[in-house]
Amino acid sequence: MQLDVEGANVVEVYQMLVGLVAPRPIAWVTTLSPKGVVNLAPFSFFNAFGANPPIVVFSPTLRRDGTRKDTLLNLESLGEFVIHAAVESLAEKVNASSRELLPDESEVELVGLSTLASTKVKPPRLREAPVAMECKVRQILPMGTGPIAANLVIGEVLVMHVDDDMLDARGKPDPRKLKMVARLGGEYWCRSTDLFEQKRP
Ligand SMILES: Cc1cc2nc3c(=O)[nH]c(=O)nc-3n(C[C@H](O)[C@H](O)[C@H](O)COP(=O)(O)O)c2cc1C
Repeated sequence: MQLDVEGANVVEVYQMLVGLVAPRPIAWVTTLSPKGVVNLAPFSFFNAFGANPPIVVFSPTLRRDGTRKDTLLNLESLGEFVIHAAVESLAEKVNASSRELLPDESEVELVGLSTLASTKVKPPRLREAPVAMECKVRQILPMGTGPIAANLVIGEVLVMHVDDDMLDARGKPDPRKLKMVARLGGEYWCRSTDLFEQKRP
């Protein structure tokens, strides 16, 4: 089959895109509202794009009614956030934190998690998460005004926290210990525990 995006249904385009660009890592993001409420939500439109400085991008899309999600609103008012890795032991909580709550309700308590103060940004990080990256917003690029339009949040990582027991003998993140999960199309997720190695040419 082929899908010409011009004139196609937006939801169909979305479903094709997330089915074809997969697996996608998940940024599990804390932000702080102007009233001081800690917001938590997962985003699989996410990746890293360079290391000097370390740059990450994720996209809180517009809701289907065209409104902006709390994460985006919080980033527009306070340009700071923390990204946590989505690991298998927390996968159900990652999913549960995607519930749409009112802006003055926190997903952190809803899913039974707690926070620790960050070192360089105001939004706190999740105590229970083995990986957390404190970030500041470099730029926010809106890509449209309709339903599911992207908003590219370009962030610079300021501080990386990794639990020591997630490191290998050389002190690097060990995927066999981290056991990250990722998103595919439909309702599918995958584990990153089926590993193989290849030497770079
Ligand atoms: C695993 C997972 C990945 C998601 N990825 C995205 C994404 O990349 N962009 C997006 O806008 N919403 C995504 N969502 C939905 C948001 O998490 C959801 O809309 C959430 O309520 C937004 O929270 P907020 O309004 O507090 O910012 C995802 C949900 C799940 C469960």
